[in-house]
Amino acid sequence: MKRFIVINGPNLNRLGKREPSVYGYETLGDLEALLIKAAIDLEVEVNCMQSNHEGEIIDCIHRSVDEADGIIINPGAFTHYSYAIRDAIASVDLPVIEVHISNVHKREAFRHHSVVSPVTKGQIVGLGLYGYILALTALAKGEE
Ligand code: DQA
Repeated sequence: MKRFIVINGPNLNRLGKREPSVYGYETLGDLEALLIKAAIDLEVEVNCMQSNHEGEIIDCIHRSVDEADGIIINPGAFTHYSYAIRDAIASVDLPVIEVHISNVHKREAFRHHSVVSPVTKGQIVGLGLYGYILALTALAKGEE
């Protein structure tokens, strides 16, 4: 069975309470429950982690080499400036899909640029929590 890791970065533990007009009222627990249900339907395994710390996210990306067939990552604000997370993604030979709940292109200018996108398989933005389900579906059904 294929295994996928879902990594949520800083402040995403505050989903449901954090700026609900931007990120909605569903919590991180709701998101993880949706992913587990989708994984059962897709006949894959999913493991979810969240961290507010850059180094922990990097360690998780490195560990995924031995533990997963692909990664779904929402790096939060690290998206826009963490060359260390970008390099961690580039260092692993796994398909990585970047997800953003909000449409970052409709928001402040600093959110328009992702330093991680060039080393990902693809990016999904602005579709809310459904973006993670689409990413999981793409990885589950993809060739890699
Ligand atoms: C986000 C967008 C980022 O700009 C922001 O810093 C986040 C969440 C999103 O999911 O829309 O923390 O990645």
